[in-house]
Amino acid sequence: IKRVTTNTILDMKANGDKVSMLTAYDYSTARALDEAGIDVLLVGDSAANVFAGYETTLPITLDHMIYHASAVARGAKRALILVDLPFGEYQGTPEDAFKSAVRMMKESGAHALKLEGGVEILDNIKKIIDAGIPVCGHLGLTPQSINKFGTFGVRAQEEAEAEKLKSDALALQEIGCFAIVLEKIPAKLAKEVSESLSIPTIGIGAGNGCDGQVLVVNDMLGFTKDFKPKFLRRYMEMYDGIVEAAAKYAEDVKSGNYPNESEQY
Ligand code: KIV
Ligand code: NA
Repeated sequence: IKRVTTNTILDMKANGDKVSMLTAYDYSTARALDEAGIDVLLVGDSAANVFAGYETTLPITLDHMIYHASAVARGAKRALILVDLPFGEYQGTPEDAFKSAVRMMKESGAHALKLEGGVEILDNIKKIIDAGIPVCGHLGLTPQSINKFGTFGVRAQEEAEAEKLKSDALALQEIGCFAIVLEKIPAKLAKEVSESLSIPTIGIGAGNGCDGQVLVVNDMLGFTKDFKPKFLRRYMEMYDGIVEAAAKYAEDVKSGNYPNESEQY
C-alpha cells in the first residue's frame, strides 16, 4: 500500500481529483476509514466536542491531541495523518508554535499539521513549514475563535470578511501551505477561492466547488445525536444502532439469555 503524502494531495488538485477527508480520534475508527480508502484522516480538535463532550474546542490540550493522533496513526497504513494544533499552542510567538509542532511530529506519528487562521499567524506557520513540517490552513468558521464570533453560523457573508478570506488564502498558499480547509462559508466564495489557488481547498459546509470535502466522522455516521446542520449528510444512524444493541444486550443479560452454551468455556 502506497502512503498518501502531501504531494499526492497536490497532484490530486492538478489532476482534478477530489480529496476525501474524515476526522478520526481512535485506532479502531482509523483502521476502518483507512480500509475504506479515505485519503486523509484528520485528528481534529473536534475531539473536544464529540469525544470529550465539551461545548467548544478550546479545552483540549497538546497532550490530549498527541494521544488521539498516535492512536489514529497506528490504525492507518495508507491515509495521510493530519493533526490539529489545539488552541493556545501556536498563536503566541513563532518559537512557541514551532515547539508545539515539533512535539506533535515527534510524539504522534502525524504527517502534517492544521492551524486555524490567516495573516495573524503567518510568521508562525512559516517557522513550522521551514522546519520541514507540512501545514494545512483553516479559514472561514475557525472554531477556536468561537468567543470572537459568538456563534457557529456561516462566515464571510459580508464583503469585508470575504475579501480578507480571499487574501488570507493566497497568503497561506504563498507561504507554502499544501492545502486549506474552508469551513462554513458561502459556496460561491469557496468556489472562487478554490479556482484562484493551485493548492487544494477542503470544504466543510462550503459547497461543491471545493477540491475535497471533510466531515466529522461522528456526525456523518449519525453518532452525534440531534446534530443535523444543513451541510451534513448522515451515512448511518449509529447512535440509534448503539441504543438498540445496548438495550438488547441488557435485556439478554437480565433474562439469562446471554451467554448461552456456545458462548462459555
Ligand atoms: O476539528 C475538526 O473536526 C476540524 C474539521 C471540522 C475541519 O477542524
Ligand atoms: Na479543528
